[in-house]
Amino acid sequence: MNILILGSGGREHALAWAVLQNPKCDRLIVAPGNGGISEIAECASLDILDGGAVAGFCEAEAVDFIIIGPEAPLAAGVGDRLRAAGFLVFGPSAEAARLEASKSFTKAVCDAAGAPTAAYGHFTDHAAARAHVIAQGAPIVVKADGLAAGKGVIVAETEAEALAALDDMFGGEFGEAGAEVVIEEFMTGEEASFFVLCDGETALPIGTAQDHKRIGEGDTGPNTGGMGAYSPAPVMTDTVTQRALDEIVRPTLTEMTRRGTPYQGVLFVGLMIENEAPRLVEYNVRFGDPECQALMMRLGGQALDLLLAVAEGRLSDMTVNWAEDHALTVVMAARGYPGSYEKGSRIKGLETCPEDSFHMVFHAGTDRSGTEVTATGGRVLAVTGRGDTLREAADRTYDMVARIDWPEGVYRRDIGWRAL
Ligand code: AMP
Ligand code: GLY
Repeated sequence: MNILILGSGGREHALAWAVLQNPKCDRLIVAPGNGGISEIAECASLDILDGGAVAGFCEAEAVDFIIIGPEAPLAAGVGDRLRAAGFLVFGPSAEAARLEASKSFTKAVCDAAGAPTAAYGHFTDHAAARAHVIAQGAPIVVKADGLAAGKGVIVAETEAEALAALDDMFGGEFGEAGAEVVIEEFMTGEEASFFVLCDGETALPIGTAQDHKRIGEGDTGPNTGGMGAYSPAPVMTDTVTQRALDEIVRPTLTEMTRRGTPYQGVLFVGLMIENEAPRLVEYNVRFGDPECQALMMRLGGQALDLLLAVAEGRLSDMTVNWAEDHALTVVMAARGYPGSYEKGSRIKGLETCPEDSFHMVFHAGTDRSGTEVTATGGRVLAVTGRGDTLREAADRTYDMVARIDWPEGVYRRDIGWRAL
């Protein structure tokens, strides 16, 4: 079959790598792709937020199946447009994608579903939001309601910080995304991510991960899109996993179906776990980046069968073949990220890294011209290793990192420290 993946990050490189291992894939196109993806698949320049343009491309290229990587096209209804044109699509409708696109929507769904999550207030009025912060005190968490590229959440240690966050949000710093604000109780515990495939009826867990959001070693400094991740997450014991499914995921899916907007795709469940009790931090409606790189390394070619079963509504027939393995991914970023950084530096030594089912350098923000690879993004590479133990996966990963000759790149040396 002919498959199109939408996106250009490390997540999409990992999805492409996994899909290509499945003999069902005859032709793979990624739009727009990047300098690593172009080595293994065709890349097409396409406005992936324009559903009409994507549908036209799919007709012209006889695409059979479309996998939507990032949240923006999902929230923009690209999946709906493609399904209306008769295509098989992996990824939720715009209405179901509100589980990521609107924090207050998710809170309302949790209320209706009885899913445990932080207590909250939802505000459209600055003065009322200020009064709530003053009444609750710090620590407290202030969130812009809409999509804010990972920057719309302020975990405020002090009341002054929370009030300043409200000034920013109601002052228009986050545009439309900040016109509504959710203020949450600060939750304590350990965080983990849980990935569950859903076809509208059946929920099938496909793995757990923990990521490192901060730029600095020891989990310090500013937040990023994610500087590394590992799978599985030790905190996701069988008990916690079962409770998360029974108390959070399944009730949410039932509520989405009851609303007439069943959820189809991967549900990325961000959890806070304390005393083996999981509470929901947030939903995302796509794979995590870089969590996906670790997950795909573990799932390999069966990923395509699973994603197809989601799109075709036959997940109840599927099982996941687990190996008792571990994967770990280290992000190499351009110096300066998540602040301003330079583009265009040359990356060497990539050809010295092994490429097999235990070693992969996924590209996140690169361009390729002939054999020359240059950095074009903040997060640039996601170096990923797999092994029988997390230690083995980490050693393989850092051995590849050491081979990469890129003086303008930075990375954390401590990915996985909590579990190691
Ligand atoms: P989110 O974008 O909602 O995942 O929030 C980003 C990060 O902020 C999460 O990964 C948590 O580390 C933190 N966070 C969000 N909500 C809360 C909360 N209610 N209590 C404690 N930490 C939170
Ligand atoms: N790594 C976190 C995310 O993809 O949102």
